[in-house]
Amino acid sequence: MGMSPETSQGQDWKPTRAARHRYDLQDVILELVPESWRRLLWSKVEGGRVLEVGVGTGMNMAYYPPEAAVVAVDPSPSFLTWAANRARKNGKPVELGVMDVRRLAFADDSFDYAATSFVFCSVPDPIAGLTEVWRVLKPGGRFILLEHVRLGNRLLGRLMDFLNPPWLRLSGDNINRDTVANVQRAGFQVVAVDGFLAGLVKLIEARKGSQ
Ligand SMILES: C[S@@+](CC[C@H](N)C(=O)[O-])C[C@H]1O[C@@H](n2cnc3c(N)ncnc32)[C@H](O)[C@@H]1O
Repeated sequence: MGMSPETSQGQDWKPTRAARHRYDLQDVILELVPESWRRLLWSKVEGGRVLEVGVGTGMNMAYYPPEAAVVAVDPSPSFLTWAANRARKNGKPVELGVMDVRRLAFADDSFDYAATSFVFCSVPDPIAGLTEVWRVLKPGGRFILLEHVRLGNRLLGRLMDFLNPPWLRLSGDNINRDTVANVQRAGFQVVAVDGFLAGLVKLIEARKGSQ
């Protein structure tokens, strides 16, 4: 599930009519994400300085641990307006920023945790984005991802490869990403992987090794 940014960082974001339809479609899909998955994702975040990547309209905010100082980014200023409203309603102190994960405006080794849900299926170059998250995490920092991925089953995996181009055009989202392998390629150690819906959705816990 993903919404590709229609703008470069910091510019005013004006979705085309087609893009607006995609966001409507994805909003509906996001509403179907079970609360328990989001709760589980955030139960892995213990506190400290936390980066949420691709915050969207702020659907994760209700699950932020109270002791965390969260900075949440997204390339879409429109989504961030929704996220700011939600933060106000929930009484969550969160710092919001217009930012593409491939170009994070933070110093190296800045965060204790990073977390994300349903974002790396739509980032055009996922390894570039994952490598940026690796850079801004402190050594030993944790990265928790909830993502839908390509199925391991040979036949179903191939079917997903076949269906990916039209689905990408319709939704801005890739259905055949191997995000566990991508996280490793970006330099993380994968500590644990949990699967839901026969492995279609994965909760990935990764760590930035201290080298
Ligand atoms: C399907 S939505 C998920 C939103 C939210 N994480 C949730 O679970 O409700 C995908 C989000 O990824 C964001 N996104 C897409 N490309 C991105 C990028 N290059 N950098 C950061 N966020 C990105 C979109 O703007 C959108 O908010």
